[in-house]
Amino acid sequence: MKLSGLHLLLTYQCTFECDHCFVWGSPWQSGTLTLENIQHILQEAQDVGTVKSIYFEGGEPFLYYAVMLEGVQEAVRKGFQAGIVSNTYWATSVPDALAWLKPLAGLISDLSISSDLYHWDEKVSQQVENARLAAKKLGIPIGVISVAQPDATSAEASAGQLPLGESAVMYRGRAVETLVERASRQPWEQFTECPHEDLREPGRVHVDAFGNLHICQGISVGNILATALGEICRAYDADSHPIIGPLLAGGPAELVRRYKLPHEPSYADACHLCYEARRALRERFPDILTPDQMYGVPET
Ligand SMILES: C[S@@+](CC[C@H](N)C(=O)[O-])C[C@H]1O[C@@H](n2cnc3c(N)ncnc32)[C@H](O)[C@@H]1O
Ligand code: SF4
Repeated sequence: MKLSGLHLLLTYQCTFECDHCFVWGSPWQSGTLTLENIQHILQEAQDVGTVKSIYFEGGEPFLYYAVMLEGVQEAVRKGFQAGIVSNTYWATSVPDALAWLKPLAGLISDLSISSDLYHWDEKVSQQVENARLAAKKLGIPIGVISVAQPDATSAEASAGQLPLGESAVMYRGRAVETLVERASRQPWEQFTECPHEDLREPGRVHVDAFGNLHICQGISVGNILATALGEICRAYDADSHPIIGPLLAGGPAELVRRYKLPHEPSYADACHLCYEARRALRERFPDILTPDQMYGVPET
């Protein structure tokens, strides 16, 4: 596995609790990277030699502003391109947005902001407009990510990193609990491949607040706080991996067949079938299908 980018889920916590959220972001979530963790991860990323970009997201990364800022500074010092994905809850007015963004000017090469009817009451919220204007004034490159409603059947499916502009919702995480009722369905046998992630050579992966390296939200291939990143990359064998192997061989439908899982006749999309199959397999593969946060299991 040759990695080009790491997306750090700085925290699982969020100001919002969007219906579609595939990481179950919420004010009630737990799990946040410390500065020490971030420094370790950046060093690991530098040591593997192929990583070019580091993103800070979550959850909502601006909730841990000081840590995010130091993380961005350290990433840039180490020669990475840095980016942030945010819901712009902090952009109450243009002057406020300027104050929040000024320390990041000249450091980040991308600020991706989310604007859609999951995050806000309007497709383009006032906060998003404020953030956009402030970023423009400061010369911070900005892009808007917008996720379509379940009935928007013409929205493009996304592959790899979330595209700018509108893309289709993926039925993973909280979306499975809240949105599938509004989706049309297809027979389960039709989901014979993963349409979104390059599972063999993922390029960019997510590192969550506990150090888990996710190929897709909730499929961990190792823990970067416990094992060297280079070692995780070298040891990664997609075909023999108990979850990725079946997904590559025949998509989520193959996961169901391989492990003889009970299933419904139809699902909203490939992610929906995959997420439900993985949920059923968590006890069998606890180190891979982790952490609880990604499966909406509340802390006990
Ligand atoms: C998980 S959020 C974290 C950063 C920040 N809180 C935000 O909302 O921009 C990152 C991006 O993932 C998108 N996202 C979350 N759940 C999704 C889903 N089920 N399908 C497609 N995109 C999703 C969000 O809309 C957002 O643009
Ligand atoms: S999509 Fe972003 S803003 Fe919405 S709950 Fe998830 S992390 Fe929070």
